[in-house]
Amino acid sequence: MNLTRKKSVADVMAQSGGKALPRNLGAFDLFLMGIGVIIGTGIFVMTGVAAATYAGPGIILSFAFSAVACAFICLAYSELAAALPAAGSSYAYSYAAAGEFMAWLVGWNLILEYTVGASAVAAGWSAYFVGILKAGGIELPHALTAVPHDGGIVNLPAVLIIAFLTFLLVLGVRESMRLSRILVFIKLGAIFLFLLLATPHVTPRNWVPFLPFGMQGITAGAAIIFLAYIGFDSLATAAEETKNPQRNMPIGIIGSLVACTVLYMAVSAVLTGVAPYTELNNAEPVTYVLRKIGYNFGSAVVGVGAIAGLTTVCLVLIYAQTRAFFAMARDGLIPEGICKVHPKFGTPHVATIFVGTVIALISGFTPIGIVAEMCNIGTLFAFIITSACVLILRKTHPDLKRPFRCPAAWVIAPLAIICSLIIMFSLPGATWVRFVVWSVLGAVVYLVYGARHSKLGAADAVAAPAE
Ligand code: ALA
Repeated sequence: MNLTRKKSVADVMAQSGGKALPRNLGAFDLFLMGIGVIIGTGIFVMTGVAAATYAGPGIILSFAFSAVACAFICLAYSELAAALPAAGSSYAYSYAAAGEFMAWLVGWNLILEYTVGASAVAAGWSAYFVGILKAGGIELPHALTAVPHDGGIVNLPAVLIIAFLTFLLVLGVRESMRLSRILVFIKLGAIFLFLLLATPHVTPRNWVPFLPFGMQGITAGAAIIFLAYIGFDSLATAAEETKNPQRNMPIGIIGSLVACTVLYMAVSAVLTGVAPYTELNNAEPVTYVLRKIGYNFGSAVVGVGAIAGLTTVCLVLIYAQTRAFFAMARDGLIPEGICKVHPKFGTPHVATIFVGTVIALISGFTPIGIVAEMCNIGTLFAFIITSACVLILRKTHPDLKRPFRCPAAWVIAPLAIICSLIIMFSLPGATWVRFVVWSVLGAVVYLVYGARHSKLGAADAVAAPAE
């Protein structure tokens, strides 16, 4: 069994469909796409918990630190995305650079990024939905809106929104994505309205002490709110459809990162400036703060905007997971049946329903904090491997056509790895235990199934007795 068998770069390119997609995305399109997938539960939900329990008002610096890490990761990521525009992104790059087992582990951890990430977003969606109804005088029973850990039975709104989005994605991807563009503007509007209403109520006294949990509060906070930045990597996968990617890719990715960072820092500064950080330990801090200063109607409007924004992020994450499964199934590492395309709708309905069911179960029964931390650790692992792949491919394939070259790659990629490690090591020990268990499980699944059914390892498979 050869764990390091590599797919050739030519094969990865050929599998990107072989057909050239029309290049019609400009920097601004990428920028909007970025905002669409990035802003979600991280800012609307996790900020409150992270400020209250990890970082205090210093959460503002946690956002800055995570942003710096993401900027390095982005630059590295964009090089591979532009050079090897293939479905499955980091999974595909790792297959060519680091071999099959590493690629499998990356793919396995993309499940944490997409499936588990979507569960965190669905839980955030539910918190805002329940909050709005409550403000309108409709109180849903706690048992049906909270996970067992929080004294409930099931988080039903989270389950129902996932069921609805899964249904939409089975019907048609294009239509769902179009809807998502409109929702981006609603989401931005909600954030600006929040800033407009709440900023005049900031009391600088609330920012003291600024670092109640010490300096390590900054990285501990960064580890929790890293979720807020997840999704920018999906932009890199649009490289193939981008006009002049050398120029537009970095502008789009870095531009959306900068915009999100500025908004995140502004929102967290205002949240912690209006309410003492100890009060923010709830799942809808943005609307909570508006209600606190008496803007009940404004709070409802912002809540609706947040719900719109969370819906787009969820949609994109479910979609991204089906794409990643598609790439893995095509290589034989998971059963191909999962990627069957529906004869009428033309969508991978089996994968979509499977992913939707798993997300619904996770978000219905697991606390959002655990879910978000698992998402972060898995994603950071995939980012580290991708950054390493940039350097490996520079060595092994110096002549590969790179429409976008990461500037000073031998500095930037190691910095991306170091920053990711710092954030990973700031996550709680329990998250690490879960991560190790998850990775070992992944290795077992690979050895039992993937290694035997791998298309690349077909020669081994032929040699084995056919059953
Ligand atoms: N970045 C996305 C969010 O914060 C995953 O919801």
